[in-house]
Amino acid sequence: MPENSPLTAQVVFATITGNNEAVADVIIADLEAAGVQVKKTEISQTEVDELAQVDIAIIVPYTYDGGSLPDEGLDFYDDLADIDLSQIIYGVAGSGDLYYEDTYCLALDSFDTQIQKSGAKKGADIVRVDLRPEEEDKKHLQVFVDDLIAAAQATKQ
Ligand SMILES: Cc1cc2nc3c(=O)[nH]c(=O)nc-3n(C[C@H](O)[C@H](O)[C@H](O)COP(=O)(O)O)c2cc1C
Repeated sequence: MPENSPLTAQVVFATITGNNEAVADVIIADLEAAGVQVKKTEISQTEVDELAQVDIAIIVPYTYDGGSLPDEGLDFYDDLADIDLSQIIYGVAGSGDLYYEDTYCLALDSFDTQIQKSGAKKGADIVRVDLRPEEEDKKHLQVFVDDLIAAAQATKQ
């Protein structure tokens, strides 16, 4: 890849009531402001091999009953164990509800563990958002994006 070609990213989200799409949109705005070319896809419409085409993959899932994964994301989740993504950087962020204290944002931890099976390298700490992203969350998401970009740039050098 030419030295000064822009970084590319794919943001994969799952949502029922819109909160995780709002988190995805904050992340996308931060990436684009940094000059990253971004593709946004809904999880049930995404094949894991698309992620092999980008520098940075970001997964933004909601958490459901008892800490469970989004139903419509189960195929995507399973397929992460069977693909080689060792050349990319990944991050996981998303919205849950602190009301569910024991299983708060548990799907984020599940995706974090699962994508590691692909060999993808973690470029930023998980960011957990309580319901809709507020100003404080946006600061955390900006750090998340900055860390992912720095990690991707380091692997390209
Ligand atoms: C039936 C039900 C179960 C839920 N279980 C959890 C849970 O275990 N952990 C959690 O963090 N949030 C849980 N939530 C809250 C959602 O994850 C939270 O509202 C999230 O912001 C929804 O994201 P969305 O707007 O993108 O659909 C649950 C919500 C519902 C309706």
